[in-house]
Amino acid sequence: MSLKGKTIGVAFTGSFCTFEKAFQELQKLVDEEALVQTIFSDAASSFDSRFGKVQSFIERAEEITGVKPMLTIPQAEPIGPGSLLDILVLFPCTGNTLAKLANGITDTPALMAAKAHLRNNKPLLISISTNDALGMNMRNIGLLMNAKNVYFIPFGQDNPKKKPNSMIAHTELLIPSIEAALEGHQYQPVIQ
Ligand SMILES: Cc1cc2nc3c(=O)[nH]c(=O)nc-3n(C[C@H](O)[C@H](O)[C@H](O)COP(=O)(O)O)c2cc1C
Repeated sequence: MSLKGKTIGVAFTGSFCTFEKAFQELQKLVDEEALVQTIFSDAASSFDSRFGKVQSFIERAEEITGVKPMLTIPQAEPIGPGSLLDILVLFPCTGNTLAKLANGITDTPALMAAKAHLRNNKPLLISISTNDALGMNMRNIGLLMNAKNVYFIPFGQDNPKKKPNSMIAHTELLIPSIEAALEGHQYQPVIQ
């Protein structure tokens, strides 16, 4: 499937160690001539860290996509009524955002985008990156895996010895996972 002309939302949440890989994949979507709108959670647009300054992330997102990121809940809300996206990807998705999404909480621009998009019965793709995937968040992953129109980029344990509950998505599988989700399928194998 060609992604040319597809409208793709990419919502960054506060898994900062994954941002570099996320930007590389964002560039690939633009290279495929997809029309990409980024959205940042409040954490993603406000926590400077050892992984970089948030202002540089926001600027980089705009440079790659040519479109200003959505940084507030009011900016993200029109995704619903305007049916602005063919697919939305939480990329990366923190344990925090995963837990809130699974429990119907909508208090960041990324979660507003997800709620607004899901009301249109269109696919939402999740790229998990969390140290508690096999702990407190396991049940939320289960809830979302069983939810209508929700798909996952395949994921696996990244450091079983030092972080036994941590799981992270294979971000390089973004494009095939999008293609499958747009056709209503979960890209498999989902655990790898
Ligand atoms: C430097 C840094 C790295 C972080 N990395 C992760 C991560 O990889 N996964 C995660 O779930 N949370 C991570 N967090 C915690 C989240 O940023 C925090 O839970 C935040 O409230 C998430 O908000 P959001 O889900 O709305 O973006 C990190 C925080 C900091 C400061």
